[in-house]
Amino acid sequence: MAAREINDHVHALGVIDWDRQVFDELIPTPDGTTYNAYLVQGGEKTALIDTADPSYEEEFITNIARLGVGCIDYVIINHAEQDHSGSLPILLELFPMATVLATEKGKELICSLLLIPEERVQVVEDGATISLGDRTLEFLHAPWVHWPDTMLTYLREDGILFSCDLFGSHLATSDLYVQDDHAIEQSAKRYFAEIMMPFRHVIGNYIDRVEGLNPTLIAPSHGPIHDNPGRILDIYRHWVSDEVKNMVLIPYISMHGSTQQMVEYLTEALIERGVRVKPFNLASADTGSIAMALVDAATVVIASPTVLFGPHPKIVYAAFLVNMLKPKTRSVGIIGSFGWGGKTVQAITDMLSNLKADMLDPVYIRGQAMEEDMRQLEHLADEILKRHHDYTIV
Ligand code: FEO
Repeated sequence: MAAREINDHVHALGVIDWDRQVFDELIPTPDGTTYNAYLVQGGEKTALIDTADPSYEEEFITNIARLGVGCIDYVIINHAEQDHSGSLPILLELFPMATVLATEKGKELICSLLLIPEERVQVVEDGATISLGDRTLEFLHAPWVHWPDTMLTYLREDGILFSCDLFGSHLATSDLYVQDDHAIEQSAKRYFAEIMMPFRHVIGNYIDRVEGLNPTLIAPSHGPIHDNPGRILDIYRHWVSDEVKNMVLIPYISMHGSTQQMVEYLTEALIERGVRVKPFNLASADTGSIAMALVDAATVVIASPTVLFGPHPKIVYAAFLVNMLKPKTRSVGIIGSFGWGGKTVQAITDMLSNLKADMLDPVYIRGQAMEEDMRQLEHLADEILKRHHDYTIV
């Protein structure tokens, strides 16, 4: 894709990856993604902000060449992950006078991950600026969005914030700017859930700082540019807050139907009480959809049969993921069925140590659910409803 003009001295140079289906061999990206980079041509100097995934370096370099860029003075690496820094080695070969600017941690990472010579990299401190002549770039350190090295770059005179992964979305699109607010909210939510949610507390501070800049554009490293920054900032405010929704997420698996029967019973009991429910059968569920539901669900109920002496391996994976993503979930329940014994409840509880959530009384039974077991599920639904009344529900 050719370079596109944002204004007469700022161009978008990124590439579209229509086919990418998974990130880090972990995160589903059903809508593909983009690797955005931006060129800022000041009166005296030129800066490139981020590069592209190495699998697209030829297209990326072609974009620069087509723009007729004769000299790049600075290459700003906001974040060292290879989807943004991976074309840096070839770029530095083509522009031998270019200086790389990064945080101290960013320098350490690109030198070790990409074998960039240390002398090519200059560390920039938080709040530091460089002048391109008639344009000024300011650097805002933002560790843990989503690595410890990250910074944001702000083009003061134009009010453009180059926010790297923050406010991004894995969405392959030919649109330079957000065109469909609902579609971008879904893509951005998936992105937030999979990438940013573990760091939601620090992100709250960055939102304050970004709002203080009052940017006219937020240009992330993935997905379209936000030309209404207030909208994505408001959405992020809710996601990083402690506000939850009146919703129960039930990741489950069932081997012979007993656990499924319990999930169906609990689902009905919750619906009858006016509680929204999202059961996810882990035999086929998309982990990205589960992550999205975790962004604001008040309660998670994990439903697992016992395999030999512990939880089903698909539940182990899901519990590990929930624990890693650190959602704002306020209550956690465990239900399921066993044949001859085991330590499933304790094993799942131990795997959720990162969550600041109350553990509800488990309903863990032998074989198929009997009348008394159904009563326990009714009681669990009552308890969930009561707790949801106590939380800040939006
Ligand atoms: Fe898009 Fe953390 O890289």
